[in-house]
Amino acid sequence: MMSAGDAGFSALPAGGAVMDPFDGIGRGWMLVTGGGPGSWNTMTASWGGLGHLWNRDVCFVFVRPQRHTRRFMDGSRLFTVSFFGEEHRAALEYCGSHSGRDVDKAAMTGLEPFEPVPGCVSFRQASLVLAARTIYTHDLSAEGFLDDAPLSLYPHSDFHRMYVGEISAALSGPGR
Ligand SMILES: Cc1cc2nc3c(=O)[nH]c(=O)nc-3n(C[C@H](O)[C@H](O)[C@H](O)COP(=O)(O)O)c2cc1C
Repeated sequence: MMSAGDAGFSALPAGGAVMDPFDGIGRGWMLVTGGGPGSWNTMTASWGGLGHLWNRDVCFVFVRPQRHTRRFMDGSRLFTVSFFGEEHRAALEYCGSHSGRDVDKAAMTGLEPFEPVPGCVSFRQASLVLAARTIYTHDLSAEGFLDDAPLSLYPHSDFHRMYVGEISAALSGPGR
């Protein structure tokens, strides 16, 4: 699989401002990709965060139990979150409405996988890639909710698993 340099990506300085997470995640969406070059899966996510925890820059992603991506998140500690320009919205819609159990998402969308850092997978069309290593997981539970509104989003009690990933690299794509 192609490396970051060959794909035209360059490293952003550690601790540098990468994006506005409210807009970038909530409205722009991201692809969460678990696994490595030999075996990976990706899905669209619009819930998550970027921040600072335990003296590390981290990202937070939330993956429901029934997602195919979940077994890749649990099977490997390395994952990426990838952000795209508006011209790739259709690809993100596809990756958020089809399962990797049934389809080859790269073939169906034209997204081209590459290896941004050894052991991780992202896509050459991304404008920004954050490579992360899971350092903590937590399964949400009904008891934790202090407000009924978010709890009502789980009529089948399929609570997300939260993954806290320590960000090891932030890479800017050629089209950014
Ligand atoms: C805009 C959007 C945001 C989504 N956000 C999440 C999310 O944060 N967590 C999650 O588990 N699923 C989320 N999904 C649903 C998954 O992307 C979707 O179920 C996908 O088909 C799972 O693919 P997989 O089975 O290949 O993992 C979102 C879908 C869309 C369209």
